[in-house]
Amino acid sequence: MVSLGVNIDHVATIRQARRGIEPDPIAAAIIAELAGASGITAHLREDRRHISDRDIKLLKQIINTRLNLEMAATEEMKNIAIETMPYAVTLVPEKREEVTTEGGLDVIKQKDYLKAYTKELQNHGIIVSIFIDPEFDQVKAASETGAEYIELHTGQYAEAFNTAEENVAFKNLEQAATYAVELNLRVNAGHGLNYNNVKRILNIKNIEELNIGHSIISKAVLVGLDTAVRDMKNILDSFSK
Ligand code: PXP
Repeated sequence: MVSLGVNIDHVATIRQARRGIEPDPIAAAIIAELAGASGITAHLREDRRHISDRDIKLLKQIINTRLNLEMAATEEMKNIAIETMPYAVTLVPEKREEVTTEGGLDVIKQKDYLKAYTKELQNHGIIVSIFIDPEFDQVKAASETGAEYIELHTGQYAEAFNTAEENVAFKNLEQAATYAVELNLRVNAGHGLNYNNVKRILNIKNIEELNIGHSIISKAVLVGLDTAVRDMKNILDSFSK
């Protein structure tokens, strides 16, 4: 069964539109858990545009499932992770000008740096996952960093969904997942997944968890977060092979 990690950044984005106190992503995390999420994902960006330091601290104290802290591989973030002790850290690339994470981390370019970075987090008991594009070279480099997990970037597939490019994008994910497992990596996936395109992803063997944010929070605005999480969880439960 593929488990569901709910990304609550988008709740914080609405809060930050008024720089106020509502809606609170902590409340969203609790509702998501009660509706069946196996974990909560939050991305602490360097510019703090949505999730704040306060959110990360409180999430760690309050949630009963697993906190997956998404972050750039910087010194500042490493110190925050070690102080917070999330269940896992997912390393992502970060550009200030991007609207959302645009691609996977280029592990090949900074393999030695990421290897040392990963080791330090693991020495503190934090599981490390690296968000990468579904490319063999990146999968191999990720395995050489010593990270336990990769998170495969499903963005290209999501964009290609229902177009002529969908099959190629899907095959890239499928082959990258197979190769990762051969290299003893564990595999998560996410980005751009919604209630329709997620179904095909569930045919890929070896994916343990999907991290989904935007589509769930978008549906929640219209029908409520409990229903939005439960609907996604039902799809994962019924389509997982
Ligand atoms: N995984 C990673 C690494 C991400 O950066 C994001 C977006 O914050 C997600 C999953 C969730 O993507 P979406 O909000 O498009 O579902």
